Amino acid sequence: MEMAVKITGRTRRLIERDRKVFLSTTRESYPFVADHGEGDLVYDMEGNRFIDFSSFISVYNFGVNANAEVRRAITDQVGKLMHSAFTDYRAELPVKFGEELVTMFPRDFGRMFLSNSGTEANEAAIKFAQLFTKRSYIMAFYSAFHGRTKGSLALTASKTVQREHFGPFSNTVHVPFAYCYRCPLKQTYPDCGYACVDFIKNYPLKGEVSGKEVAAFFVEPIQGEGGYIVPPKGYFKEIKRITDDNGMLLVADEVQSGYMRTGKFLALDHFGVTADIYTMAKSIAGGLPMGVTMVRKSLGDIPAGSHANTFGGNLVSVAAAYAMLKHVKRNRRSLEAAAKRKGRYMLKRLEQMKERYELIGDVRGIGMMIAIELVRSKKGKEPAVKEREKVLEESFSNGLIMLPAGECAIRIIPPLTISQSHM
Ligand SMILES: Cc1ncc(COP(=O)(O)O)c(C=O)c1O
Repeated sequence: MEMAVKITGRTRRLIERDRKVFLSTTRESYPFVADHGEGDLVYDMEGNRFIDFSSFISVYNFGVNANAEVRRAITDQVGKLMHSAFTDYRAELPVKFGEELVTMFPRDFGRMFLSNSGTEANEAAIKFAQLFTKRSYIMAFYSAFHGRTKGSLALTASKTVQREHFGPFSNTVHVPFAYCYRCPLKQTYPDCGYACVDFIKNYPLKGEVSGKEVAAFFVEPIQGEGGYIVPPKGYFKEIKRITDDNGMLLVADEVQSGYMRTGKFLALDHFGVTADIYTMAKSIAGGLPMGVTMVRKSLGDIPAGSHANTFGGNLVSVAAAYAMLKHVKRNRRSLEAAAKRKGRYMLKRLEQMKERYELIGDVRGIGMMIAIELVRSKKGKEPAVKEREKVLEESFSNGLIMLPAGECAIRIIPPLTISQSHM
């Protein structure tokens, strides 16, 4: 496969025009201007071909630009009715979709709210948890990422630039996550006996906020934006003990980790724990905007009028999500097997590279949610921040799209359908 990427004035001019009309967001690294794509390949506006190890930020779990079935469902629905004000009026398609979606969750899950993004799904989860418990505080982890609107941003703590000037965020309590490669308490797992869990019990919950005032504990089963941090297998059972003992709700943000990415529909299932509320977005509608907040049935309902939106249940997004879901249900076994097999292969190859390169300090992941953490030296573990940028740029120049995560990690999240040769 010919890999040398050629970038000309055409790309540079487009980037200049973009800068003139759009406020800065997070686009600053390599000069990628997307044009089209399919499967595990994407092409830029100059016709350069890239292997996609990013799934366009975890959205195309089943192939770039979804599949023909999803695209057909979208165009069919566009010809019928695009928007039906679903939170005010009813429509059949979202009901059919909802009925199918609940079957993917544990048996006692049954009611949901539809929105347009991950952050909006989490905003809803925060409000619902407060409504269900009549409590106001929320617990979340350092290096968590739950979104950028004010409610979910209060929970996000992965980079200060994301929060600077937007606070104060008064109802959130942050606690250390099980980042064992760089334990915040300088302990070693398993000898530590979950010292980070004891810390939560002994400090925030003894000195800062009563557990009886905490509505919910938000978790990402694998921290995403914060660095693709995978906690030990038994960790969430310990966290669940805290939520149960205090009557808090456990909210699992599966926006990035869910929808088969790790080889299971819900990544939290790898840890043998069930949450009370799940949030999903990204891959769920195959490339169109959608967020889902799924609630345990026993929590009951929210008061009519207490939460709604305009575009939740948008018929085109739902048509895409319904077609995507049918595809996933039909192919569930093979998708699970592919995520496991390809993930194992990827981890094995990266472990071999770790042996060879001083730069790779850690290799981690479950299924096809994988990262390497780059360090200046294996012993000192100094974050290799500049080197990480160089690796991303070099990869781009050689036809591979990858994304950073955390301070010095690189996430590797190709579509689950990626071919062996492109891996
Ligand atoms: C775990 C997690 N939660 C929430 C969000 C926010 O989703 P969105 O960008 O759709 O608002 C993200 C986005 O990266 C995420 O990874």
